[in-house]
Amino acid sequence: MRYANIRAHLNLSKEGLMRRFLVAGNWKMHGSSEMTADLISGVARRAFDAASLSEKRALAYDILVCPPAPFLVQAVHDADAQYISVGAQNVSQYDSGAYTGEVSLAMLAEVGCEYVLIGHSERREIFGESDQVIAQKFAACVGFGSEVIPLLCIGETLSQRKSGDTEKVVAAQLDAVLNEVGIEGFAKAVIAYEPVWAIGTGETASPEQAQEVHAFIRNKLRGLDKPIAEKIQILYGGSVKPANAEELFAQEDIDGGLIGGASLKVDSFAGICEVAQRLSHDRV
Ligand code: 13P
Repeated sequence: MRYANIRAHLNLSKEGLMRRFLVAGNWKMHGSSEMTADLISGVARRAFDAASLSEKRALAYDILVCPPAPFLVQAVHDADAQYISVGAQNVSQYDSGAYTGEVSLAMLAEVGCEYVLIGHSERREIFGESDQVIAQKFAACVGFGSEVIPLLCIGETLSQRKSGDTEKVVAAQLDAVLNEVGIEGFAKAVIAYEPVWAIGTGETASPEQAQEVHAFIRNKLRGLDKPIAEKIQILYGGSVKPANAEELFAQEDIDGGLIGGASLKVDSFAGICEVAQRLSHDRV
């Protein structure tokens, strides 16, 4: 396991035990080999400049990029020297076998992926992934020793929010996974709260709306295991940009972002990383 990963999941900031920020880019089905190279080198340069660091290992937060599968090998190679982690956007729930088009955890681990997104709303809605399939994928990560860390995405649709069901929906999505792996399965995992109505719409949950749901998620986990709940990073996703990252990341239970559109350009992704760098100082 690479350095950034170990540090993030022991939750060791240099100074103490507060949760570190994680700024994660979900490129979705965008990108190219050229973009992978340019984005990783550009973001690394900006991040380390902003931190005034010559020693790259000392970033106060963690950066993750999740490019499409064909670019994972290159991304790991390009990111290695820079201490940016690489994650996949999806994984099979099966170990191996006749599953055309699927990619296994062992394959992701072998090429150096440290994280994998599980249960993104686009996988749920467009590709019909059920709570049960998502729980199986999460369980596969846990069964694999969480060498590839599951980043579980949960969140409500607009109509669910309007009918006052946000907490019920989020709780059910969590329960589906908890029933499969227990709270111990979350000892090495990340959660992203992504309200579906805020994804790719330019509309963001207000910092208060987001904090409310993040606190709900953490409290739910706290009821099962306090240390795990205190340690787990809960990211916010949904139209995060440099202009709104600061007020979102300043919330007590928001530990960074899962960024779509704004992760595709060096300027905007690095701008969000810079917010994490600045706010990290308030967290120790
Ligand atoms: P946007 O940042 O483009 O709204 O996408 C969010 C998202 O789906 C990240 O997984």
